[in-house]
Amino acid sequence: MLGTALVLLACGDDTGAPDGVDAAATNGSGGSAQQPVRTIRTGGMGTAFDDSERAFSLTARNVNHYERQAFADGKDVFEAAWNPRPGEEFSGLGPNFDASACANCHLEDGRSAGPVGDGPLPTGMTVRLTTDQPAIIDHYGGGLSSQAFGREPEAVVTVAYEEIEGTYDDGTPYSLRRPIYTATVADGPGLPDDAVIGVRVAPQLPGMGLLELIPDADLVALADPDDLDGDGISGRLGEAVHLLTNEPAIGRFGWNASQPTVEQQTATALFNDMSLTSRYFPSDLCDRWAPCLRAGVPLSTEYNVEDYGDPNFGVQEPAGGEVSDRQLLDLTVYTQILAVPGARDIGDPVVERGNELFTDAGCASCHTGGYTTRPGPIQGLSNQLIQPYSDLLLHDLGIELGDRTVGGDLVPTEWRTPPLWGIGLLETVSGHTTLLHDGRARDVEEAVLWHGGEATASADAFRAMSADDRAALLAFLQSL
Ligand code: HEC
Ligand code: HEC
Repeated sequence: MLGTALVLLACGDDTGAPDGVDAAATNGSGGSAQQPVRTIRTGGMGTAFDDSERAFSLTARNVNHYERQAFADGKDVFEAAWNPRPGEEFSGLGPNFDASACANCHLEDGRSAGPVGDGPLPTGMTVRLTTDQPAIIDHYGGGLSSQAFGREPEAVVTVAYEEIEGTYDDGTPYSLRRPIYTATVADGPGLPDDAVIGVRVAPQLPGMGLLELIPDADLVALADPDDLDGDGISGRLGEAVHLLTNEPAIGRFGWNASQPTVEQQTATALFNDMSLTSRYFPSDLCDRWAPCLRAGVPLSTEYNVEDYGDPNFGVQEPAGGEVSDRQLLDLTVYTQILAVPGARDIGDPVVERGNELFTDAGCASCHTGGYTTRPGPIQGLSNQLIQPYSDLLLHDLGIELGDRTVGGDLVPTEWRTPPLWGIGLLETVSGHTTLLHDGRARDVEEAVLWHGGEATASADAFRAMSADDRAALLAFLQSL
């Protein structure tokens, strides 16, 4: 009845799980990726069970007092509106920026909405700029900012949608919206036609600290860049660099798996989206392409939770950094321990049928899971059996999902498989259902229909399903 999926039954416990369901998160051993075990505790023992609009904002249920304190401090920094006035608390914003608070884009720790229709991009979306012309990057940096103090915003980027029609094999019609972007810059050298514009929505934040602790070896084992197993799905490791040490690392975060750690992702957000300096980017003149390495700062990104007992730990703002080490650390811990919301409706026959269809259609080849996290500084995130429904690898999903040049040409772009845990609660938390890297999909169904490239067979299988089966698959996704 449940196919290969396995529901483990055990007694209820005191961590808030509904009675009678699962203790699967404790049964993992070893460090290698495992066959997914169906569990409501997709985020291990820290999984939270609250399907209200706070569903993404809770601490992992199993973290300690110090970590909860850091979470509370980090929440203050996450929600603070930074300002440009020197000498005040939370100052240093701008001159160019996209938003003045993390929470403006990741509202309720959720996902920013894609555009409602044609017009300027909404707050919460960012625009990357890639070109091989150094003079252009020197002027605009690696992104086009939508807000500025004392000057015109760097650029206004607008979208215009084209509706494209399609039909399921059973004749039911559907329609997708294809985005075309236009960037108008306020001043400077202007944008060459072959510069690439990368439009991105802010993803939801639960479970980041768990993704960070998936052992490298698991991701290496899943990668199959040359498709040696011949299943049509390759999957490449994200290539990143630890900015503090210049060591190469596996990229895990961001739509293109470009950042290796939550701390570096956070420092990059502070710098790129808010023009705030920190020990990672000590000067406004540094850019992501030429990060300035700061001498005299400990190179380790790991830390000792006992340090929270020392009131002076990391309080000093580093010279040249608007965000102190302590603030960066608090923000990092905050993001790391946001709890994954538990899966719902396990055992419901339609949902379980959808789970089978998800595997049969090959979705689980990329949206995979069953990992045991490696030990890390936060014990509650360590040795957890988790099920994010992602291989964290980069895939080619077809040219239609590629970024575009300023001139309008599509360029091949690889995307990290997004984790699907919590996806059924997006509407409750964030008040919209837009999906994919640029928010073009108006709902889950459209997101699946956009899959091409390595996922062509999966999308074809979805189009070939009966209406009941499609509904079951969507019900399964909704239960995550
Ligand atoms: C202007 C909007 C905006 C602001 C402000 C912002 N973010 Fe983001 N955030 C994004 C976007 C867009 C992405 C995806 C980036 C990419 O794909 O490269 C992202 C990605 C992330 C990720 C990785 C998520 C994943 O699934 O890999 C984390 C963690 C994160 N942001 C944390 C923060 C923190 C902490 C702050 C405040 C310091 C912050 N963000 C401020 C828009 C924003
Ligand atoms: C070859 C790997 C691969 C396969 C197979 C695959 N996906 Fe995906 N999926 C991705 C990637 C990569 C993205 C992100 C694409 C983007 O944002 O442009 C994605 C995005 C999604 C999203 C939107 C997630 C978000 O956070 O916006 C959903 C929902 C989804 N996939 C469901 C499915 C389902 C259902 C199937 C099977 C019918 C499937 N996927 C098969 C790789 C895959």
